[in-house]
Amino acid sequence: MTEHFRVVHVSDIHLGHSHDYAQRNWDAVVDYVNATKPDLVINTGDTSFLDPDAEDDLGHARQQMDRLQAPWLILPGNHDVGDTHPEPWIDIRVNDTRLDRYRRHFGDDFWARDLGQWRLIGLNTLVFGSQLATEEQQWQWLADELGSAKGRPIALFLHKPMCNHHMNEDSDTSMTIGQSARRRLHAALGDADVRLVGNGHVHEYRSWIADGRLMVSAPTTAFVHAVHEPPRNHAGMKRVGVVEYVFTPHAVSFRMVEPPGIEQLDAHVIRTDATRALIATMTERGKQEKAALSQAAE
Ligand SMILES: [Fe+2]
Ligand SMILES: [Fe+2]
Repeated sequence: MTEHFRVVHVSDIHLGHSHDYAQRNWDAVVDYVNATKPDLVINTGDTSFLDPDAEDDLGHARQQMDRLQAPWLILPGNHDVGDTHPEPWIDIRVNDTRLDRYRRHFGDDFWARDLGQWRLIGLNTLVFGSQLATEEQQWQWLADELGSAKGRPIALFLHKPMCNHHMNEDSDTSMTIGQSARRRLHAALGDADVRLVGNGHVHEYRSWIADGRLMVSAPTTAFVHAVHEPPRNHAGMKRVGVVEYVFTPHAVSFRMVEPPGIEQLDAHVIRTDATRALIATMTERGKQEKAALSQAAE
């Protein structure tokens, strides 16, 4: 490993056993990675198609990741472990059963890795605000990883972005981490030398500066959401592709790449009846889970 290293950031690959819209795009990404041989691939989540309870989809997604010949690290997305409290998408929320299922397929849901001069840290943003035991464990672990970085610049990777614009905004947890988690993360980072925060989830490519830190929202490799609607994250580019970083001892540069053969797909155009039926089933399950939780709370 030289002091310079190259990382391909993929996100929202949304691969399923029975829903294969994104398969050919993933094939193009695999070919690109295997031909260009980056030092590392980082996947910021939503690896499974849509339903975190679909064991077959998680297994299929893991097999697809194993086609990469480069080393890789992966984080969970809301479609892999359930969504953030208190207002998860269609009430399919993160819980220990879903986290355990994810870990069986993919291993740790948060990690740190030293590469060149840098320390790369991946956090599970879905557990923020969940009050699951793992949430507190992750905060403690993060403090240790930041504290022991000893002069290494840090790159942080997340599924949901820290913010749309800045740390004090009042944004909706469907698109960014929640406000209390943002305050806590901001405080935890303190004066740590975090130079890059890479995220997924939004299905849009964008970069901006918040709190003096470079934020990079990786595009999806699968499909964007409604090209005719405003960007979900205010200024994102609705293109399918990957981000490629080059890290030097003290700096990082990045660019978006559309690997040869990748197709620009729009979820609203390609969605089939089978997917609509799956969402209806998930919605019903979410309603039942919500009712059971409110009954337990009475
Ligand atoms: Fe996604
Ligand atoms: Fe997501």
